[in-house]
Parts: sequence; structure tokens; C-alpha cells
Amino acid sequence: MQFSKPLTAFSTSDRLSLKDRLQIEYLVNANILAETEKVLSQDIINGLIQTPKSLPPRYFYDDRGSQLFEQICQLPEYYPTRTEASILQECSEEIARLTGPCEIVELGSGSSTKTRILLDAYDTLGLPLRYLPIDISGGILESSAKDLLVDYPNLYIHGLVSTYELALSALKPAALPTRMISFLGSSLGNLSPQECDIFFSQIRGALQPGEYFILGIDLHKSKQILEPAYNDSQGVTAAFNLNMLQHLNRKFEGNFNLRKFEHLAFYNEKLHQIEMHLKSQEQQTVNLRGLDLTVTLEAGETILTEISRKFEIETMQQYLKKQSLITMKTWTDSEQKFGLILSKFSPEI
Ligand code: TRP
Repeated sequence: MQFSKPLTAFSTSDRLSLKDRLQIEYLVNANILAETEKVLSQDIINGLIQTPKSLPPRYFYDDRGSQLFEQICQLPEYYPTRTEASILQECSEEIARLTGPCEIVELGSGSSTKTRILLDAYDTLGLPLRYLPIDISGGILESSAKDLLVDYPNLYIHGLVSTYELALSALKPAALPTRMISFLGSSLGNLSPQECDIFFSQIRGALQPGEYFILGIDLHKSKQILEPAYNDSQGVTAAFNLNMLQHLNRKFEGNFNLRKFEHLAFYNEKLHQIEMHLKSQEQQTVNLRGLDLTVTLEAGETILTEISRKFEIETMQQYLKKQSLITMKTWTDSEQKFGLILSKFSPEI
């Protein structure tokens, strides 16, 4: 009923209903996920039987994990989300002018909050609005797509419920003159250098020459600012980290006792990365029956759950250039905490 008012002003052929402006494609569904899960779960076993131990970060994101993550983004100590949004507020019209009519493809769209800033800019300039959110969570993708369609009457959405890899290999040619893939929130920092190289080969495969890539990166800064961002005073990040064990207990019939682990996050200044660990408080044995796995942890032994690498704009520009992504323009905030790089895929240069 949201359109009862506009419809009195426009004939039905001028305005399409929400349904006509929305398409959601499931490249993964529960069955496929369950299947790949079995294959992928081998990496849980590998991570836990080796020393030092690690767990794959994708197990952060069950329903509770996604909720806690949204809360992290609003914490006073967690500056990246706010800083990136403020930079986007400043530069999004310039981005829209640089690309012209452009389909926006977003990797890990989540609640699409930051994308609204970009959509507003394209809308203000009178450019057509096409958005392709890609997210592994169908629930979040559908609900945020519906909210967006209500707020942007000229918007078309084609959502893909998928992993990045699958979605990038399945993209059809852009429906507008060009396309921009956006990868915000410094999610690139959660990939190891090797994973980063693989990621960019997938990006190159998805872009046509002349198309755009916009990247948000967290920059080098002092420990005094970085560490509180991953050790907040309310303990939300600790709960997020520990929730991974709960998730594994549920999924693989495990018996991790969360009280016997402690959240530990620190800045590794040599590698310029935050490392998030779960530290075993005592010597203990844990079973994951679903994986036929028993592991013993020593008192004080840690399990690495996530890295968050911090970057420098220049070094990143050079790296992007090696991927044939030539910087068009970069933006940062007044304190140089966070950076945005708009690049163009130019394989012939
Ligand atoms: N990419 C963001 C960052 O590294 C978000 C993020 C991923 C994060 N995993 C996290 C934030 C764990 C806090 C804790 O900051």
C-alpha cells in the first residue's frame, strides 16, 4: 500500500510495483550449503589439530553472530563503519559523476546501510538506479532489499544469495552502460595475502574493461585506537568471538564450554594486523562429535579466529595496479583513519 499515493499521480504503467523491481536469485540454497559444509568442515579439523590452532571466520555468522556484528558496527570504539560512512557522504556525488549511469554490485551487502549513501547520490544526479546485492544470508538480503525498494521508487534490485566466488563467476553483463563492484568495510583485511590474490582474480574475471571497483580499507594507526576497536568495553566483540564456539557446538554436536575461553584481540605491529583469538583458560579436551574430532588444548593455548589487516593507500594502489585496477581517485577522512579507492579495470594498460 506504500504506493497508493504516488499511483494517483502516475499511471500504473509509469510506476512498477515492488515485485516488478525485485528479483532474488539463490545461487546457494540450504541443501547445497549443507553439502559444501561437509566438504568445507575439513578446514575446522585441520585448524584444530595443528599448532598454532585456528578456526575459519565464516563460523562467526549464524543469526546471533550477524546480530552481534551489527552491534559492533555501532560501538563507540569501533570507528571504521562510522568513518567510512562519513567519507562516503562527502564523496558519493563525485563517484556518481565519475562513473555515470552505473550498476552497483555489492559484495557482502548485509543491511545495505552504506549503499543508501551511494544510491542517494546517483538519484540526486538523476541517474538510473540498479543494485545487485550479494550476500550469503538470504534473510538479510530479502528484508533489506524490500526496505530499499520502498524508499527508492526508481530502484531495480537483482539480489544474489551466494558466496562471493560463485556470484562473481555468474554475473551477467551489466544492464547499464557500466558497472561498479563495491567491497566496503575493510573486509579485504579479513583475507590473508594469498586469499587476497585469489579474490582479485575473481574480481578481474567479473569486470569488463572500463568497469569500476570501489574498495574501503582501514589504514595503519596506533595501537591505542586499534585495540579498543576490537576490545570494546561492553564486551560485544568478546561475545561475537565466543559465539563461534556456540555455533560449532550446535552445528557439529560439540561441547566447547564458553566459560573456559577468553576473548583476546591485539595488534600485531609487525604484520599490521589485528589478531583475534580464543584463549583456553585451562588444559581441556573438547569433542565435536559431528566431525569425529577430539582435541586437547593446553592452559593459555590460543585459537586464531580472525585477522584484520590494516593498509596504506599508496601500497594498496600499487597492488591494485598489478591487478589492472587503475586508481581514479582516493578519499580519506580528516584523521586519515580510513580510505576509499575508486579504480577502473584497465587490462590493456
Ligand atoms: N572487516 C571488518 C574489520 O576487520 C569487520 C570485521 C570482521 C570485524 N570481523 C570482525 C570486526 C571481528 C570486529 C570483530 O574490522
